[in-house]
Amino acid sequence: MELTEAILARHSVRSYTDQKIEGAVREKLQLMVDQCCRESGLHLQLVLDEPRAFSGRLARYGQFKNVRNYLVLAGKKSPSLEEACGYYGEKIVLYAQQLGLNTCWVGLTYSKIPGVFDVGVDEKLVLVISIGYGQDQGKPHKSKKSTEVAHSKVQVPGWFRSGVDYALLAPTATNQQKFSLTLLDQHTVRARAGLGFFSKVDLGIVKYHFEIGAGNADFRWV
Ligand SMILES: Cc1cc2nc3c(=O)[nH]c(=O)nc-3n(C[C@H](O)[C@H](O)[C@H](O)COP(=O)(O)O)c2cc1C
Repeated sequence: MELTEAILARHSVRSYTDQKIEGAVREKLQLMVDQCCRESGLHLQLVLDEPRAFSGRLARYGQFKNVRNYLVLAGKKSPSLEEACGYYGEKIVLYAQQLGLNTCWVGLTYSKIPGVFDVGVDEKLVLVISIGYGQDQGKPHKSKKSTEVAHSKVQVPGWFRSGVDYALLAPTATNQQKFSLTLLDQHTVRARAGLGFFSKVDLGIVKYHFEIGAGNADFRWV
């Protein structure tokens, strides 16, 4: 499955089967997490076979069922931490989809279980992503129109259009899609987060999707 296909197939899944993440799938997923830690400097931790974080009232309120595995997104406190968690977290989400797994980003409705993962004194836990074999594959979200999020100062090339289309398929907190993408010239795109809950995390997710949609276009972010 190509990354573009993984984007089309991915939807939030909150109910999971009892199937464990094991064998080659477990190894590959862990290797991807390790690679993202090295590339980003983030403190990403894969927690497997740990049902307690999603067993309480909060998780039921959030409609999560049988979550036994999750990825913890933490890192050194910095102004770019949230966006980096979004970018690298989504890299792992789409890779998990390619491995036949399902996921859901979770900002609030989970409990922090002591001793299961570490967050250093100079670090912040930003959020988690539930991972497992879904009871179903989820369903597509309602989306804004491209004209509501994309703007251009110049003639629009195909790669920008495609980048925006894939950005609109990105998960965002409460499906808020509070971001804007502006083509400033043929090689420069400005991406901005709007005001909203977790909108900086959303921006990192959206940028990763846009890059996949834009293919090998020669552009830089500002
Ligand atoms: C940063 C972020 C935080 C989220 N937090 C939660 C959450 O706390 N609980 C939940 O059920 N879903 C959460 N979601 C999932 C969104 O509701 C979901 O991505 C959105 O409705 C779009 O649906 P889709 O992922 O199926 O495309 C979160 C998503 C993101 C990106």
